[in-house]
Amino acid sequence: MIVKTEKEREGMRAASRVVKAALDAAERFIVPGVTTVEIDRVVEQTIRSLGAIPSSKGFQGYPNASCISVNDVVVHGIPSLMAVKDGDIVSVDITALLNGYQGDAARTFAVGNVSEANLKLIAAAKDAFFAGLEHAKAGGRVGDIASAVQLYTELHGYGVVRALTGHGIGHKMHEPPEVPNFGRRGTGSPLKAGLCICIEPMITAGDWRVKVDRDGWTVRTMDGSNAAHYENTVIINADGAPEILTL
Ligand code: MF3
Ligand code: CO
Ligand code: CO
Repeated sequence: MIVKTEKEREGMRAASRVVKAALDAAERFIVPGVTTVEIDRVVEQTIRSLGAIPSSKGFQGYPNASCISVNDVVVHGIPSLMAVKDGDIVSVDITALLNGYQGDAARTFAVGNVSEANLKLIAAAKDAFFAGLEHAKAGGRVGDIASAVQLYTELHGYGVVRALTGHGIGHKMHEPPEVPNFGRRGTGSPLKAGLCICIEPMITAGDWRVKVDRDGWTVRTMDGSNAAHYENTVIINADGAPEILTL
């Protein structure tokens, strides 16, 4: 779906607000000792209380309302009875469906007192998103966003994950185009006014290579280094700044 009408924009905004509310609820709930299924329950309850559906649940067989990825897990961590502990970093990625529209966003949260290195990693994922966002404008190309994210990340000494990408979003969670976090400017799909995309840098403190656990979902760094994730759903405008729907 290329978002065009104001009605469609409103639909995307409303779904995105649900996602943001669920992220906020997760953030308030996270303290040392809570398990990741407990965090997931808070996310699911928040989404449902707002009349929306947790669309990751059942997506290609994924079992939960959120992906909760701790420390060296980059994305798609499955909630479990494992408790988070002081010093951990926890990425929470949430997708919600409201009135036929999808919203999708992720944040990495610090649990209790985390190291300076972890705080910097978390901040760098956010800053990489905003570096990419500067190029999210009509007339540009997906590769402009991708190269800006990569440049920022690598300049600051972090690795940028290549196996997974951002994406278009609309009535479906994943729509064309793919929005990678590495690449060359001037390449890839053209960015058009009204296009709705998720820009989502996944960055690592060490090497960018990742592996998938035997559960078929959990993506972790090959070298065991920590990872951070920062994602928003945005609409590209004809002129001026893009609109971030999940802030
Ligand atoms: N929210 C993820 C994304 O950013 C996708 C979730 S995969 C699922 O694209 F299986 F958990 F739904
Ligand atoms: Co997501
Ligand atoms: Co996404």
